[in-house]
Amino acid sequence: MQSLQQKASEWSGVDPNDAFAIDETNLFEKLGLQAFINLSTNFYNRVYDDEEEWFRSIFSNSSKEDAIRNQYEFFVQRMGGPPLYSERKGHPALIGRHRPFPVTHKAADRWLQHMQQALDSVTDIDEDSKTKMMNFFRHTAFFLVAGDELKNQNQSVACKHAANKPAAE
Ligand code: HEM
Repeated sequence: MQSLQQKASEWSGVDPNDAFAIDETNLFEKLGLQAFINLSTNFYNRVYDDEEEWFRSIFSNSSKEDAIRNQYEFFVQRMGGPPLYSERKGHPALIGRHRPFPVTHKAADRWLQHMQQALDSVTDIDEDSKTKMMNFFRHTAFFLVAGDELKNQNQSVACKHAANKPAAE
């Protein structure tokens, strides 16, 4: 059976070596905190203004301010900076934290489209860093899709067993 990482590579088209090239340089030291805040703000402005209601509504239980902070603190921590996210919220556990949301292939494509546009429009991130970051985002997005499919499979197994239980139970 394929691992989640293998599925992520196949579906995203990003080789693991490219996905984790973010670890070759310390992007936080190179770019600074403000670049991460600008990226996440730009990204979530697009998400919360999305004309596609099906996508926008996935985020409707979070305030935009919280979503921005959660995201940039995670990116900062993952890309060589201080562990801002974990100090506040614990382990990132991305698959678990995305469990309430429908992280489908279609949702990943739209998330990545907004992120590509956000990266294209921020001026304080150099091209090489943008490429590295986008490869990490692509791979992680489809890692989450693979995790989401697992969740759905587990749910259907649970339902089948439940249906087989004797009626009196
Ligand atoms: C594939 C499509 C994706 C969808 C539909 C999605 C959806 C969401 C939603 C609805 C939230 C809640 C907003 C909040 O309260 O923070 C969230 C949070 C988050 N997402 Fe995603 N996401 C996706 C991809 C990603 C990717 C690729 C990453 C990392 C590279 C990521 C990292 C995070 C983080 C760190 C949080 C904050 C979690 C928390 O603290 O609860 N997401 N995402």
